[in-house]
Amino acid sequence: MKGIVLAGGAGTRLYPLTIVTSKQLLPVYDKPMIYYPLSTLMMAGIREILIISTPEDTPRIENLLGDGSKFGLELSYAIQEKPEGLAQAFTIGREFIGDEPCAMVLGDNIFYGNGLSKKLDDAREDAKNGKATIFGYYVEDPKRFGIMEFEKDPNNKNALNVKSVEEKPKNPKSNYAIVGLYFYPKGVSSMADDVKPSARGELEITTLNDMYLKEGRLNAQLLGRGFTWMDAGTFDSLRKATEFVSMIEQYQGMTISSPEEIAYHMGWIDEAKLKESIKAYGKSPYGKRLEAVLEGKVVL
Ligand code: TTP
Repeated sequence: MKGIVLAGGAGTRLYPLTIVTSKQLLPVYDKPMIYYPLSTLMMAGIREILIISTPEDTPRIENLLGDGSKFGLELSYAIQEKPEGLAQAFTIGREFIGDEPCAMVLGDNIFYGNGLSKKLDDAREDAKNGKATIFGYYVEDPKRFGIMEFEKDPNNKNALNVKSVEEKPKNPKSNYAIVGLYFYPKGVSSMADDVKPSARGELEITTLNDMYLKEGRLNAQLLGRGFTWMDAGTFDSLRKATEFVSMIEQYQGMTISSPEEIAYHMGWIDEAKLKESIKAYGKSPYGKRLEAVLEGKVVL
C-alpha cells in the first residue's frame, strides 16, 4: 500500500502568512503542520509515501523531512505545477503508485482519536479487496464541504451505504463532510484519468469518489464522537488546532502525531535513530517528549 500527502495549494486564505512559505510548514503548536497528516498515514502502516507540493515549496518540505529514513519511511517528492485539484494527485503519482492500492491525506488535515488505527486498518483491507473508503465527520456548515449522503446498512450495523457524494452542495443532503483522507484500490490513476474538470476548473476528488460509488465500490466510515478532525487552512481553524494540540499535549503530557514516536513504536527505527532525532531537536519540548519515549515511559 502506498500513501500520498498532498501538500500544495495556494493557501490564499492564510495570506500574508503563506506568501513566502507553505501552509503545511506553518506551526500547529509544537510541530509543523505536515507532521500531522504524515503521522496519519504512518498509523495506517504505510511506509512508502509521496509528498506532492508546489514548485517553490517542495524543496522546503524536502529540507524538513529528507528521505524519510529518520521516520523509518521511504519518502519521495513530486511537483504539482498548479493547484488543479485533489484528484490530480493520482495522475502525478502514477509511477509511484504502480499497481498498488493508495491512500491520500491532505497536508492541512489533522486527525486525532482513539480507535483511528482500527478504522485505517479496515480501510486498508477494503482497498486490497477493490473498494475505496471515504470518512465522514459531522459539520454544522455542510455547504462548505464535500458531503456524503448515506444510510445505515440494515444487515450490518457497522456498515454504511453511501447514496451520493456532492461537492459544496447548495442543498446539502446531510451534515457529514467527507474529510481529507481517502483510500483507493489499485488502478486509481487510470480512474483519475477520466475525471473531467469541474465548473471551477478543478479535478475534483468528489468526481473520483462518485465514479467508485457508481461502480458499487465506495465504502464510508464515520468519525464519530471521540474523534477530532480539523483542517487548519484558515486563521480560525489554525488557531483552534493549535489550542487543541496544546491542550491535549499539556493535559496528557504526551505528543500528538510525532512521526519519530510512531516509527519507534512500530519498530521502524531503532534506539540509535531516535537518539539522533532527539539530539537534532535540541532543547525543544518536542525533543524532550521524545526522550520520554526513548526511556520507555510512553507506550503507544
Ligand atoms: P484548500 O485548502 O482547498 O486550498 P489551498 O491550500 O490552496 O488554500 P486556499 O483556499 O486558502 O487558497 O486545499 C486543501 C489541501 O489540499 C491543502 O493542504 C492544499 C492541498 N491542495 C493541493 O495540494 N493541490 C490542489 O490542487 C488543491 C486544490 C489543494
